Amino acid sequence: MSVARPLPHDAARLHVTGTARYVDDIPSPRGTLHLAFGLSTIAAGRVTEMDLAPVRQCAGVVAVLTAADLPQGADCSPSAHDEPLLCTGAVLYHGQPLFLVIATSHLAARRAARRGQVCYEETTPLLTIDAALAANSRFEDGPRIWQRGDTTAAIAKAAHRVGGVIEMGGQEHFYLEGQAALALPQEGGDMVIHASTQHPSEVQHKVAEALGRPMHAVRVETRRMGGGFGGKESQANAPAIACAVAARHTGTPCKMRYDRDDDMVITGKRHDFRITYQAGFDATGRLTGVDFVHYARCGWSQDLSLPVADRAMLHADNAYFLPAVRIESHRLRTNTASATAFRGFGGPQGMLGIERVMDHVAHHLGLDPVVVRQRNYYAAAVGGGLSAPRAARPPEGVSGQMKPQVTPYGQKVEDFILHEMTERLMQTSDYAARRAAVTAWNARNPVLKKGLALTPVKFGISFTLSHLNQAGALVHVYQDGSVHLNHGGTEMGQGLFQKVAQVAAACFGLPLEAIKITATDTAKVPNTSATAASSGSDLNGMAVQAACDTIRDRMAACLAAHHTVPPEEVQFDGGRLRVGTAHLSFAEAARFCYEQRVSLSATGFYKTPDLAWDRIKGEGRPFYYFAYGAAVTEVIVDGLTGENRILRADIVHDCGASLNPALDIGQIEGGYVQGAGWLTLEELVWDKAGRLSTHAPSTYKIPACSDRPAVFNVALWEAQNPRPTIYRSKAVGEPPFMLGISALMALSAAVAAFGSGYPALDAPATPERLLSAIARQKARRDA
Ligand code: MTE
Ligand code: MOS
Repeated sequence: MSVARPLPHDAARLHVTGTARYVDDIPSPRGTLHLAFGLSTIAAGRVTEMDLAPVRQCAGVVAVLTAADLPQGADCSPSAHDEPLLCTGAVLYHGQPLFLVIATSHLAARRAARRGQVCYEETTPLLTIDAALAANSRFEDGPRIWQRGDTTAAIAKAAHRVGGVIEMGGQEHFYLEGQAALALPQEGGDMVIHASTQHPSEVQHKVAEALGRPMHAVRVETRRMGGGFGGKESQANAPAIACAVAARHTGTPCKMRYDRDDDMVITGKRHDFRITYQAGFDATGRLTGVDFVHYARCGWSQDLSLPVADRAMLHADNAYFLPAVRIESHRLRTNTASATAFRGFGGPQGMLGIERVMDHVAHHLGLDPVVVRQRNYYAAAVGGGLSAPRAARPPEGVSGQMKPQVTPYGQKVEDFILHEMTERLMQTSDYAARRAAVTAWNARNPVLKKGLALTPVKFGISFTLSHLNQAGALVHVYQDGSVHLNHGGTEMGQGLFQKVAQVAAACFGLPLEAIKITATDTAKVPNTSATAASSGSDLNGMAVQAACDTIRDRMAACLAAHHTVPPEEVQFDGGRLRVGTAHLSFAEAARFCYEQRVSLSATGFYKTPDLAWDRIKGEGRPFYYFAYGAAVTEVIVDGLTGENRILRADIVHDCGASLNPALDIGQIEGGYVQGAGWLTLEELVWDKAGRLSTHAPSTYKIPACSDRPAVFNVALWEAQNPRPTIYRSKAVGEPPFMLGISALMALSAAVAAFGSGYPALDAPATPERLLSAIARQKARRDA
């Protein structure tokens, strides 16, 4: 059986030998032209004059386009139609594309793009959350508010209270392959686009709109991305549209690949958030009421900010039952790059709010934070229904099974397995002994302090825009028995294609080599959703299985009739078929069915059942199920410099019945490191003029191999998804990202050990920030 096997990524060999083909590697036709944007050098105001003659005079320049040359406006927005490809007068952020250079080489285009003489009328940019609030600059009329119960009364009545604020920075995606597209003009004005995008259908839609053509005139193909991480959900539209309009203008193939600095300046990043909180709780640490206010800095255009901010609200509870809860969310419009999707899609920010509360409560009461977390967990899944196969028995006094298991948005939590997962992780990570050892170490060492923390993850799986939860597939069996596989998902390194090929191989009882994995193509599978929300294998795996089942059933019916046995007696296994007492190879069967005029091609379709969601009220069942995980991280911090290391991380993560344990462990390791990077190393700095100062790897630090935990133990939680997903697996793309929160909490514990009081660490907890937090701890101790 090809599912559940730890097979390597299908392109692993190509990746490591540098032979995997990305957009820029596709051999392009002779005469292909290259593009570059001229960028604004102010963050807010108007363009009063643009002299592009010096640009046009540069060597190799074929044409220069401005907004006036784009009759259809060329909008790039995935949502509100508020993102003109080229500035139409109003400058809304520093780095906004103003004009498009078309030249004979990549370098010639880039050189010329610097030569534009642009005059501006500058206004004061709104750069920060405070500035946007003061100006009431926002998307939507006012804050979105979801509430259950009377939080003010609950907090006022509580025996104990804490309150505070946590600031968390954004994050650059730093996909290794930058944004890139290639447009090939076809006869009659049609266009073929090769794009590095998570969302080929949207590129098709937006290119068609920009060209004033129906969608059938545009075909988009995506073989793979060198990473997307959410940064190619909408941000891939602009270069693809630029290539298409330039290709139409010149009648010549056009290619665009952002230079890394331009990529970091132009494209959106993770939303930075401020979350304020007030929490009331009893002497055991059980929350009675909690009040959150989320402030999201969305940047200049709406993009995906509303669903991102919604998902932050949807994860304000993380793994905890909140009896009375109020969440208020402000989506602020600023003159910065338009923040966009990034692994977790707002979930990490919302989750960090409640994890901060748990940490603060534990510190206030002098309790082990794990105990406080366990006491607030949702009640364990109980017998039957959706419960996990192993009966759950939460530790004494930790969970009342009478407690209603309902999220703030009204969805029942019916599959909660974190009680057992936490217990298991505490054993495998030797939590109690190591916690005692850390305390002893900290008592002995004045300069180097250690911290240990365990944090859980409960992440909702499904697009919150319910209609996006659909997928299609197209499968062909050729007469030699080889199989050509197509589906709507895109490959960005996560291993989706391999998982889906495993599903197809299992359906036909074929070895994996018989399945050809092909590029995602809008002409083969139409109207697809972005490969996002971690749902790629859930949705496309099911669609592919449906298509394969159709073909298999046709083959079985044909062969069964020929051998006069019931179709159930036709078995597909090991590349062979058994039909009653007869045996034949899959290839012989395919050839026979072809000669019998049986169609060996089928489409498949899947839509996730049981979803109902009202985002305005904040009520319903937005998620089909939850994915769970927990991590224990141990860190060491130097009190004289703020330097720090992750010494060890232990993870247990729930992938349901894993489709491919090797790929899933890769996702968990990568997700954890990227999450820890967000909260510890990666810092975006904008200067007072709104210019991104950290626009290259020299100033923006992503985790390197040497930053991964020295000891890194990842275990899968072996339990089937109680929902009938593809082979009872669970989505794995985003949830592990939030395991990185344990690194921040461990740093917080280490900082606390330097003095007294609650450290209230902001993120990213860079050495500088740690050093000043340590200084505050020492000052409080000495006061
Ligand atoms: N893993 C790799 N190697 N590269 C990526 O770009 N993107 C992440 C995650 N894992 C990403 C990745 C994000 S943001 C999502 S939503 C999922 O993969 C998308 O793929 P899936 O739905 O197939 O899990
Ligand atoms: Mo992932 S942020 O949903 O592309």
